[in-house]
Amino acid sequence: MNKPKRYTITSALPYTNGPIHIGHLAGVYVPADIYARYLRLTGNDVVFIGGSDEHGVPITIKAKNEGVTPQDIVDKYHAIIKQSFEEFGISFDNYSRTSAPIHHETASEFFKTLYDKGEFIEETTEQLYDEKANQFLADRFVTGTCPKCGNEEAYGDQCEKCGTSLNATDLINPKSALTGNVPTLKQTKHWFLPLDKHEAFLKEWILEGHKKDWKPNVYGQVKSWIDDGLRPRAVTRDLDWGIPVPVEGGEGKVLYVWFDAPIGYISSTKEWAEREGKDWEPYWKDEDTKLVHFIGKDNIVFHCIIFPAMLKAEGSYILPDNVPANEFLNLEGNKLSTSKNWAVWLPEYLKEFPGQQDVLRYALTANAPETKDNDFTWKDFQARNNNELVAIFGNFINRVVVLTNKYYNGVVPAPADFTQVDEETLAAVKAYPNVIASSVERYRFREAQQELMNLARLGNKYLADEEPWKVVKEDEARTQTIMYVALQIASALATLSEPFLPFTSEKLKNILNVTSSGVETSWDEVSEKDELLPVGHQIGASELLFVKIEDETIQFQLDKLEASKKANEAANKAVEPQKETITFDDFTKLDMRVGTIIEAEKMPKAKKLLVLKVDTGIDTRTIVSGIAESFTPEEVVGKKVTVLVNLAPRALRGVESQGMILMTENADGKLVFVNPDDANVSNGLQIS
Ligand code: 2FM
Ligand code: ZN
Repeated sequence: MNKPKRYTITSALPYTNGPIHIGHLAGVYVPADIYARYLRLTGNDVVFIGGSDEHGVPITIKAKNEGVTPQDIVDKYHAIIKQSFEEFGISFDNYSRTSAPIHHETASEFFKTLYDKGEFIEETTEQLYDEKANQFLADRFVTGTCPKCGNEEAYGDQCEKCGTSLNATDLINPKSALTGNVPTLKQTKHWFLPLDKHEAFLKEWILEGHKKDWKPNVYGQVKSWIDDGLRPRAVTRDLDWGIPVPVEGGEGKVLYVWFDAPIGYISSTKEWAEREGKDWEPYWKDEDTKLVHFIGKDNIVFHCIIFPAMLKAEGSYILPDNVPANEFLNLEGNKLSTSKNWAVWLPEYLKEFPGQQDVLRYALTANAPETKDNDFTWKDFQARNNNELVAIFGNFINRVVVLTNKYYNGVVPAPADFTQVDEETLAAVKAYPNVIASSVERYRFREAQQELMNLARLGNKYLADEEPWKVVKEDEARTQTIMYVALQIASALATLSEPFLPFTSEKLKNILNVTSSGVETSWDEVSEKDELLPVGHQIGASELLFVKIEDETIQFQLDKLEASKKANEAANKAVEPQKETITFDDFTKLDMRVGTIIEAEKMPKAKKLLVLKVDTGIDTRTIVSGIAESFTPEEVVGKKVTVLVNLAPRALRGVESQGMILMTENADGKLVFVNPDDANVSNGLQIS
């Protein structure tokens, strides 16, 4: 496309059933934000759209599990998500939500337009039904084996393993996620979008039109689906949470969440335009607009096939110019998982690392899953901060600012004659805006950020080679020149770091005192102007841009993950099946008392046994207990325990044991006294 007149940038609308985590950030929001910030800085007309996806089964399931309404769930998480995005510096022009009236209107109208144009097939078919829950099963209400890749945990609308888009009836061995029941089939009427009818256009538009400019991972997935043949896809559901189907016969049915959610981009744009007194339509309908969708790889089919088919069928909309989907980010070698609490949650990060938003942005971009799945580790996060942000970027700026203040009271000195190195350095700085821009415009944000760091490296090396702290002793004019050149690099860094490290850029601009004094440099000026910080300009005091992250801080995060792992292992431990039912009389035969261990010693030559003296309130008796591998004698003396006192005595290694102390196992397999309030003891563990 020729130079666009304006840009519409969308980022996947997150489901409002939990907070944002690093997987969302690395896959979607950080790259989208870098792109939007870069475009604004380079003088483009941009709208960057976000919002919450508040319909769909995941929200209904969460509400059911928590015994609250879906509205309660979306209200809670919409607020949390919106606030954490703001604090993290994701610079949406508008962040909306799909429960907003403007969205309901827009999505209903969109559906009606397609309906009126005869773009849907209306059909009564047999769909999966859960007799016990009295409910049709679609999307995440049903799991089963993916017919394409054999994944046994595929959902009714998509297999997250191979990305295939499915109809619920395609699943092999389907199982209701509500009751675990095997579903039956029941007739119901729905509206289908005949994707097969759009196959020719999709082939021409993507397979011929975007072979070169779409990422290979995106193009490859789309090609394989198109090659497999497209089929009609139901766009309505038998649910009570969602946007009501706005046509005759649609009573009791709602729009499929993946029909309404992408329309959310349009309604969020409308909301923004209304607030800003602008016209939304050119941003979605003018051929001079470049529309770019930022998403994760599990959303590719919806943004490259289904939504474009909807837009094309409607007739008045443009299609995305690109869909730079990322692969997945793992955490410490394992798949991120909300249910297993295997994640770094944004609200927690913001609390635990105040003022360090840019460190996470930097680490996620440096390790972005742009071409393959990647791993986030806390050690890498620490190294990126300490060895790169602190040691290179921060160190360079600190030296420049400290020395300028020391030698010239913070005033930019006049240079004398430039040496060849100075000339080359200043020329190299001028090249960076284009180098970085070229990577950003090709959606290579890792590479772009590396180039930014190369500029900081250039500055660091220049100072290390020219050694103004030595030269100052013998050559005043040369020192001024070196500091002048270094200050120009610092100024370029303040401008060019903005898309990647917005908080740092702002801090640096304050230190260099460029914003209020009107010497702030635009992106293009870094290439165009010979002087970025003018001679005589007064800069501010030095302030650290980044601080070293200590091992303890990282260990704290690793410990949190370890605790999640333990809790999961405990939850996954096979629970012993229930024993045969007993009568109440049977139960009353057991005489259990509270007791205190008053003495304890090891049984000679027995690894597992402790000989205990227990005050049962009735008497003091000897109990031999097999807990020596979990406790030392000193640890148990004084402990209150539950004792079965009327168990027939038996001799163990020649010592008569007169009862039994009730024990269970904790998550580590260590024996513990029965105290169900212990967070490490999970439900279903046997007491013995
Ligand atoms: O995968 C998800 O989290 C979806 N809620 C993304 C929706 S993107 C858009 F279409 F709204
Ligand atoms: Zn699959």
